[in-house]
Amino acid sequence: MDFASKIRDVVDFPKPGIVFKDITPLLQDPRAFQTAVDVIADRHVGSKLDAIVAVESRGFIIGSALAYKLGCSLVVVRKAGKLPAKTISTRYALEYGEDELHIHEDALQPGQKVLIADDLLATGGTVRATGQLIRQLGATPVEAVFLVELNGLGGRELVNDIPCFSLMSFDVEE
Ligand code: PRP
Ligand code: MG
Repeated sequence: MDFASKIRDVVDFPKPGIVFKDITPLLQDPRAFQTAVDVIADRHVGSKLDAIVAVESRGFIIGSALAYKLGCSLVVVRKAGKLPAKTISTRYALEYGEDELHIHEDALQPGQKVLIADDLLATGGTVRATGQLIRQLGATPVEAVFLVELNGLGGRELVNDIPCFSLMSFDVEE
């Protein structure tokens, strides 16, 4: 399956100078989306995962499909002010400024093994913050999985304590 042909480059989005990697053509192709989920899920069949931890918002798309396919629980990591019950949170750096991610404090139990799911790995800040939240609850991120990885932004290096798997990768200039 040529997944890369299902990713659309959108020039100057969300701001001038950025070439946005749009995953919606892949999602709109039933065979491509199903195969993408199957390829990622197959890596973890029989590995006794307890949960998929999916990151708001585009991580929900791939994360929920993986949780259904692998028969494990779905845990959501959300931006500030979205989760209704008691949360723990962490701040992380964006290209410009900072943001905050939250997880319900009872979402994971100590000793659980989880998979982080997101659509895209760029600088790695989002996934590193997610890994910190998971560890604060005593669980272990065994791998982080992505549809797309952007090479050259240092993402894999920043997330160095969590193995990363991406379905496809593209070279970008820093
Ligand atoms: C995008 C993307 C990843 C993250 C990757 O999410 O969906 O979650 O950025 O970037 P990083 O590796 O540099 O942290 P964004 O925060 O734009 O929000 P969204 O998923 O809600 O669109
Ligand atoms: Mg995101």
